[in-house]
Order: sequence, then structure tokens, then C-alpha cells
Amino acid sequence: MKQISDRIFYCGIMNPNMRVFDVIMRTEYGTSYNSYVIRGSEKVAIVDASHHHFSAVYREELRAALGGAAPDYLVVNHTEPDHSGAIGDLLEAYPGLTIVTNAVAAKNLRQIINRGDLPLQIIKDGGCLSLGDVSLQFIVAPFLHWPDTMMTYVPEEQALFSCDVFGCHYCEPGILDTRIGYPADYELALRQYFDCIFGPFRPFVVKGLNKLEGLPLQLVCPSHGPVLTRGARLANALAQYAAWARTEARQPLSVPIFYSSAYGNTEQIAAAMRAGIVEILPDAACDLVKLDARTGEYAAAWALLNECDAFLLGSPTINRDAVPPLWQLLSQFDAVNSPKRPCALFGSYGWSGEACGNLAQRLEQLKCRLFEAPFLVNFVPTEEDLSRAAALGTRFARALL
Ligand code: FEO
Repeated sequence: MKQISDRIFYCGIMNPNMRVFDVIMRTEYGTSYNSYVIRGSEKVAIVDASHHHFSAVYREELRAALGGAAPDYLVVNHTEPDHSGAIGDLLEAYPGLTIVTNAVAAKNLRQIINRGDLPLQIIKDGGCLSLGDVSLQFIVAPFLHWPDTMMTYVPEEQALFSCDVFGCHYCEPGILDTRIGYPADYELALRQYFDCIFGPFRPFVVKGLNKLEGLPLQLVCPSHGPVLTRGARLANALAQYAAWARTEARQPLSVPIFYSSAYGNTEQIAAAMRAGIVEILPDAACDLVKLDARTGEYAAAWALLNECDAFLLGSPTINRDAVPPLWQLLSQFDAVNSPKRPCALFGSYGWSGEACGNLAQRLEQLKCRLFEAPFLVNFVPTEEDLSRAAALGTRFARALL
């Protein structure tokens, strides 16, 4: 347990050894499942719970944070199981607890806890709840990052309980941002968290940030990672979110070319395609991004893929398919915000050449706009093949104008 202010106590769980979150997200710096207690003069509220794996230790932390009081309310800002998993146990431990949440979250909770008699108090956007000398104001913020998401503001403490927003998978013993020992790593974790969790929901991030405009803030208490404080990292995090969430068109255009190449043949085609593209779009950011099994960390490639204006994929064919790095790249494609994104395919093959056809099917499922038929070369490209590849690059670039 850690005291954050006169009336706010931290009772979250530190998990510094976690390296993969939710199966898909690497967490080089561990994570924390943040939970808070707000002690009002008349009532006591818990904000968010914890992962069910940590139920026992969480209850010990919570007991310390409660300081002998019985909690009246559990505010559920979001029902993803990393925060809701321990709620069933909490209800057993504190039978008088009332869950305060919005209607969408309540619907989820009924399916997560599988109890027909959940003690629910449903609130709406802008609703308030008094704890005596402090009050809770609820800010419903759908799709940050689930349909159920809301935030809770305590005006008397100028504290925002922001759910996953402004959070990150970063764990150090001190929960305040003034105690961060490795700021560069923290900044990286904050950005990676935004890209992975909020990247597909940028327009909703903008709406959510608009709802916070004008709120005096001394503290932002997220569901993961350090608590942000005024005078330390709070203003910076707000500014970064505003910048990262912008969806305006970028200039110059970004047209990366992602490829794998076993013997340099697909790589030659990639270079020729690039030459054709920059002939038409000399200012375009047209990075050649080579992927192979050693790439390991895909975060930068995923970010580039999801922020670009158009892209090309090149793959050789191995065992009748595209090679794993290309599938790995597409596994994090943001299909929500990228409908009709222009793309083109190319590759060298030896026997049968199914790679591009298989990738084309996947890109169609992702609602991308495939440009012309895939450009294929049997084995080693000739000068003529490379000229044709460059010509396709110029046609692709013209189509972007
Ligand atoms: Fe940390 Fe969306 O749960």
C-alpha cells in the first residue's frame, strides 16, 4: 500500500517480471495492475480491482489501503479481466460492496462474474457520487479502449482515475512518476502502450481528451504504470496523447515497403519499386523495411504500417506460403482505422509462387485496396523485370496523387 494524497491510497499489484501481456504485447518493463482507495469522510470507494491471479495478495494490499474501513463502493472504470478478474473475490470478502459503473460495463460484468445478483449502481456520463468531503464524477469515454470505458474524476483532489488512458506497462517500486528511474524506458513504454491499445481508436482518444479539457489536474491515476503528477510528467503525457491521436493527413506521404528476401531477389524488386515511387513522389518517406526471423521486435514496423498512407509487401514463397515475418507484420494491422488503404504486392519465387496470392486474400479481409495484380518474378529478376517493377512503382505512386 502507498499513500498518494491525504485521501487517495494505492493498492495495486506490481508485476515486474511480466514479459508478455494479453498474449500479444511484449512488456519489457513488466506491468502493474493499479487499484486505488479513496477515503471520504462518510464513504469509501475502491477504483478498479486487479487480475484474478493476484486476488489473494491484492486483498492484503486493499486491506492496508482501507485502514480498517469497510469499502462502500467499487468503481469499475473498465471490465477487461486484468482489472475485473478479482471482483468476484472482492464481493465475497466485502458483501456490502456496491459496484458503481456504466450500463455497458454492467452488462459485461454480468457475463464475467456470472452472478445474477450483482449489487450494481448504474451511472451515466456526468453522474456524481458523494463520499462526504469528496465526490466522484463519472466521465464515460467509450472505446478508450473498450465500449465500456469510463474515467472517474475527484474534483476535491483534482485527481483523474483515467483507466487505461495514460497508462503503460512499466513497473518500478515507486508508483509516482517522480520516482521513475529510467525515464527513456518509461517514455518508450508509454508510446508502445498507446500504439498497441489506443492506435486503433485515435478518433475516440480525441473525443476523450476533449472531455478532459478544462479539468484542473494535480494527479492522473491510470490503471497501469506510474501515477502522473502535476509538475512532473502529467502535462507531457497529455500533450503526447494529443499529438499521437491526431488523424490529419501527413505530408509528405509515407509509403513504406516491407519485405523479406532469402537470396536477395525479392530485395532487388523492392529497390526497383522504390525507385519508381520516388520518381513520382520525391518527397515521400519510402522506407525499405527488411523483415526476417531475427527481427524479433516488430513494434516499429507495426507503428509504421499503421501510420502510413500506403504500403507495399514483398515476400518470397516458401512451402506454398508467404514467409512468417510478413504474417507477423500483418498480425497487428489496424483494420479499424485503415479501410481502403492502398497497397501492392511483389515477390520472387522458385517453384509455385503462392506467397502474394495468400497475402492478397488477407489484405482483402483487412479491407485494404490492392493495386493491380501482384508483381511476381521467377527466381532472379532480369533488368527487364526490374524495369517493369519500377514502372509498377510509378503507377502506384501516381495513383496516390
Ligand atoms: Fe488494462 Fe484494457 O485493460
